[in-house]
Amino acid sequence: MELSSALLLGLVLLGLMWWKWSRPKGFPPGPPALPVMGNMLQMDFTNPLKALRKFSKVYGPVYSIYLGFTPAVVVRGIKDLKEVLVNKGVEFADRPHNRLIEAISGTKGIIVAPYGQSWKQHRRFTLSTLRNFGLGKKSMEERICEESSYLIQEFKKNTNALIDPHLVIDNAVSNIICSIVFGRRYDYDDPTFRDILNLVHENMKMATSVWSQLYNAFGFVRHLPLPHQKIFRNIKVIFGFLRKVLEEHKRTRNPGQPQNYIDCYLDELDKEQEDGNKSTFNDENLFTCVGDLFIAGTETTAASLEWCLLYMMTNPDIQEKCREEINKIRGDREHLDYEDRMMMPYTQAVLQEVQRYASVVPLGVAHAPIKDVQLNGYTIPKGTLILTDLSSVHYDESQWKYPHEFNPENFLNKEGELVKVDSFLPFSAGPRSCLGENLARMEIFLFFTSILTHFKLCCPDTKSPPDCTPVFGVSHTPKRFLMRLVPLT
Ligand code: HEM
Repeated sequence: MELSSALLLGLVLLGLMWWKWSRPKGFPPGPPALPVMGNMLQMDFTNPLKALRKFSKVYGPVYSIYLGFTPAVVVRGIKDLKEVLVNKGVEFADRPHNRLIEAISGTKGIIVAPYGQSWKQHRRFTLSTLRNFGLGKKSMEERICEESSYLIQEFKKNTNALIDPHLVIDNAVSNIICSIVFGRRYDYDDPTFRDILNLVHENMKMATSVWSQLYNAFGFVRHLPLPHQKIFRNIKVIFGFLRKVLEEHKRTRNPGQPQNYIDCYLDELDKEQEDGNKSTFNDENLFTCVGDLFIAGTETTAASLEWCLLYMMTNPDIQEKCREEINKIRGDREHLDYEDRMMMPYTQAVLQEVQRYASVVPLGVAHAPIKDVQLNGYTIPKGTLILTDLSSVHYDESQWKYPHEFNPENFLNKEGELVKVDSFLPFSAGPRSCLGENLARMEIFLFFTSILTHFKLCCPDTKSPPDCTPVFGVSHTPKRFLMRLVPLT
């Protein structure tokens, strides 16, 4: 090729790249993006929150970045997050196209389902089924208290020794969602269940890794022998486990006498078939909903409870004040009821402070507009990937008395009463907010108060406190840590 033709071709390619990675008119501004990689090289995917914070100092609370070929809008700060999640909640209630997730579970179920009839029906059905488990059948509260006593028994086997609480907490928390969805719990030494939970956690970390971002950005990566292949191997095992559970239910259930979520769904399927209705209830949606609840209901809540233990261990005075309040309200009863929390402002403030300070789901779950929509004077096209930086509001210096320290006073007034703070969004907000919020709050309160009733939580070594830096992923989890449980009862 002649030199002039090569130059011309180079210029055309550069022009195409500029066109592809320059922001459309009206789109939020953002850092200059490189051809092909976009802004990916400027972000450390082991903790992208730092880069997101840095960009917002230059471009404001609503700005854009490119993840490879994909433009994304980042939303930070309470004013704009409220606008996206609540005021324009329905306009932003879709989920974006995500190559990895679509390869795993399509667009069924609840979490990744697009805004529409199927998502609405499944969200409504799941919320009401979770609520109904308070009536007639064993209530959620009873299930949690029963599991708490297994947890305490297990911890009692190791009193005064150093223990890593992760496996037991993880198993106990997951048993609650398993009991509601499958109608059974798993022993703490069940090796198959432990393997499944480990694979879930591994995938929750890998889902935000650079390999997943590359997979999402460039379709051809799918076939390369890179670390993202591990996600698919793990999911095959997790789905195999869930499929077995479902098949067993189908074989052994008593129609019309539902004992758990799967039974309720199968009854609903029978009803729809009898009525000849064209509904969105089907086997595929059942499978994905079961997976959604199992995965969403385990890591987030288990991580929150582990953060509670870690912060109590590192803040013995706060731990002691909680215990005083717990004992005062409990009296000589075996355990507290969930209702008792209304008389326990300090403990509630501590639990909320754990959720604020740990920001367990720092970037929420990505949203997308259902149509072209205006935000902060910008035009955001339908389907754009919206990253909701929930953690940004939790450390906002204009919103908190003590933004950068663990301090329950953030949720208390001078009279020691619990105050409602707008900039507290651990479960997100609006039409797509966390569906398990009530269950998660109940679990955290009942497990936490039960553990503090039975044990004093101590640091293994008071001279070198444990590392409280979170490990980034879909959830912010604590690094594995050791603690000493001193028995009190
Ligand atoms: C402390 C524990 C938990 C935290 C911090 C948490 C947080 C969140 C967040 C931030 C979202 C994204 C909301 C959005 O898109 O704006 C979410 C969604 C969701 N969560 Fe949770 N969650 C927790 C526990 C649970 C539990 C126990 C369940 C199971 C019952 C659950 C089920 C779901 C589901 C199904 C969605 C998707 C909702 C939808 O797309 O309509 N979560 N959660």
